[in-house]
Amino acid sequence: MSQRTLVLLKPDAVRRGLIGEIIGRFEKKAGWTIRALELRELDRPLLEQHYAEHVGRPFYEPLVEFMSSGPSVALVVEGERVIEGVRALAGPTDPIAATPGSIRGDFGTIVRENLIHASDSEESAERELKIFFPDFS
Ligand code: TYD
Ligand code: MG
Repeated sequence: MSQRTLVLLKPDAVRRGLIGEIIGRFEKKAGWTIRALELRELDRPLLEQHYAEHVGRPFYEPLVEFMSSGPSVALVVEGERVIEGVRALAGPTDPIAATPGSIRGDFGTIVRENLIHASDSEESAERELKIFFPDFS
């Protein structure tokens, strides 16, 4: 089942020079393709849409501060079971709980600065792709 997912390489990944390392992992998965890729600053209104489910939670404000602290890389990745697949490559939200070999497990320590966002379901992917790549079809 071919799918598309929205991936963000967060400001910590960009600052630390990990873009190539992380994108390389997607490129190496059989049959997955990068369909769009953009370096961009994420502003507050866009982040509020993107993180709508978290508005009002205690971690929300620091999360938005962090996510707007520098450019991110937004990507559309397409391929077989890519939604579940990128989440598996990323590892769980808390990098200390993430297995070594996963992106968060290899490079992260702090929950907020966990390097990568990836859509968590088909519904989320559809919603998030519209926010970040409205002209892409
Ligand atoms: P969430 O959607 O729960 O995690 P994921 O990115 O794995 O889908 O949370 C969104 C982001 O919010 C998460 O990547 C990091 C940040 N966050 C915190 O800073 N503290 C927290 O306790 C949680 C749950 C998330
Ligand atoms: Mg999430």
